[in-house]
Amino acid sequence: MAPLIGLGVSGGIGAYKSVELARLLQKRGYDVQAIMTRHARRFVGPLTFEAITRRPVITGQFAPGMNATIEHIALATDMQALVVAPATANVIAKFAHGLGDDFLSALYLATRAPLVLAPAMNTVMWEHPAVRENLATLAARGTTFVEPGEGYLACGWVGKGRLAEPAEIAEVVDRVVRERSGGTTSSLAGLSVVVTAGPTREDLDPVRYLGNRSSGRMGFAVARDAMRRGAHVHLIAGPTPVEPPMVTTLTRVRSAAEMHEAVMRASERADVVVMAAAVADYTPAGGPHGTKIEKGGAVTLQLERTVDILAALGAARGSAARPVLVGFAAETGDPVARATRKRETKRVDLIVANDVSVEGSGFDVDTNQITLVDAAGVEALPLQSKDAAAAAILDRVERLLASAPAPVPA
Ligand code: CTP
Repeated sequence: MAPLIGLGVSGGIGAYKSVELARLLQKRGYDVQAIMTRHARRFVGPLTFEAITRRPVITGQFAPGMNATIEHIALATDMQALVVAPATANVIAKFAHGLGDDFLSALYLATRAPLVLAPAMNTVMWEHPAVRENLATLAARGTTFVEPGEGYLACGWVGKGRLAEPAEIAEVVDRVVRERSGGTTSSLAGLSVVVTAGPTREDLDPVRYLGNRSSGRMGFAVARDAMRRGAHVHLIAGPTPVEPPMVTTLTRVRSAAEMHEAVMRASERADVVVMAAAVADYTPAGGPHGTKIEKGGAVTLQLERTVDILAALGAARGSAARPVLVGFAAETGDPVARATRKRETKRVDLIVANDVSVEGSGFDVDTNQITLVDAAGVEALPLQSKDAAAAAILDRVERLLASAPAPVPA
C-alpha cells in the first residue's frame, strides 16, 4: 500500500497549485488524501482533487457520512505527513493555538505525523506580528516550512507571500517522510545547532556605525537546511533587511560584543556551531561617543579588536569532540592557504572559504562558490545557489559529527 499523505488545502488563491502538488506527490509514490477547508472550496472545487487523488475529498467535520468511514478516522494515525498548502494566516493561527473547529485543525491536533506548512498570504499579513508569533510557535514545535516566494501577488501587491512552487513543496514533504521512516534520517535530527548570520554594527556615536556588506543569506540558508534536517536551530542574527527563516529560537543582536555573549550562551550545550556571521574585527576603542561627533577637520578613529568568537569557541571546547565548529573565511585572492591557517589557529573543524572578489560569490547575491577546508583536505565546489552550498556544508558537518561522538551522559 502506498504511504499516505494528508494534503490540507485552505482558502487562498494558491489553492489551485495544490492540485499540481497532489499530482507530484502521487508521482513520488504517495497516496494523497485531500482535506479542504470551507473557504478553499470557493477557490477550487473538491471534484478536481477527487479526480486526481481518486479519494473522496474531506470537506467538513460534520458532513453526513464523514465519521462513518473508517478511512477518515484512521487518517490521523495512517498518514505519514500532513502538508497544508496554501496555509493561510487563519489556519496558521488555529494550529498555533490548538483550535479544532474544523476537520483540518482537528486533524492537526489528532495526529503525531510531521507537519509541513506552505504559507501563502498578502505581504502585510505575512509581516504582521501576530502571524510572525504564530509561525514562531509552530517552528518551535518542529514544523517544517516551505516559505512563500516573492513577486506579484494576486491582491496587487509586490512582495513576499506567494505560495512556494509545488515541486519544492513535494520535495520537502518527501524528505520529511523519508527521514521519519528511518531510511535516511539525518544525523542532525534532534541535535542542537547554533548558526550565526549577517553583519554586526559597531556604534561610533548615536547616529553612526561601522558595518559591513553581509546580508545574512548564507547563514540563513544553513539555518533553514538544518531545520529541514530536523535539528533544533538557534539562529543568532545581526541587523539585515533579509528575512530570517523559521527556526526553533531566533536571537537578534547588533554588535560584535552582543553576538559574542549570545553565541557563548547558546553554544554551551550545542552539538554544532556554524559561524556564518561577518563579525566586526574592530570596534571604537572605549565604546561609542555619547553624543554625535561634530564635523570639523579630519577625524581619527581609534579602534580596538573585538573578541574572536570562533577562536573563543575553539578554546572553550578544548579537547572535547563537540560542538563541531564551522567557520567562514571571506577572502579576496587565494582563499585556501589562509583558510587552512585559520582552521588551525582557531582550532575549528571546518572552514568554508570563499573568494568574495569572484563574480556571483559573496555578499548580496543568491549564489556562492565555496571551498571546504577540513582535516581531510580541501574540496572546491562549483558556483551554486546558497541553498545548495548550505546543503553541502551540512553534509560535511554530518560526516564530521560521525567522528565526533556525543559525550556519554554522566
Ligand atoms: N569571527 C568571529 N569573531 C570575530 C570575527 C570573526 O567569530 N570577532 C568568525 C566569523 O564568523 C567567521 C570567521 O571568524 O566564521 C572569519 O574569520 P576572520 O579571521 O575574521 O576572517 P575574515 O574576516 O574572513 O578575514 P581576515 O582574516 O582577513 O580578518
